[in-house]
Amino acid sequence: MAKLVFENTSEEKEVADNSTIQEICEEAGVPFACTEGVCGTCVIEVVDGMENLSEFTQEEKDFLGEQDLERLACQCRIKGGCVKIKF
Ligand code: FES
Repeated sequence: MAKLVFENTSEEKEVADNSTIQEICEEAGVPFACTEGVCGTCVIEVVDGMENLSEFTQEEKDFLGEQDLERLACQCRIKGGCVKIKF
């Protein structure tokens, strides 16, 4: 199992390895709109555990550019381990 920790609320959620994080982020209050990596509504800041998220999608690269702090919650998967995010 993988774990997603929300820094804002101190909430911790367990999810299966390689799950998408959209649903769980939505439940925690992250706003979504397009769900296709285009609008940027679902930007989250990764505080810890970036290495436990899937590779950046082309949509994320296009929207976020070259950086390693933010992800689009509608695009990434958690591979395993623990990831701490802020939104
Ligand atoms: S919801 Fe639009 S980029 Fe994720």
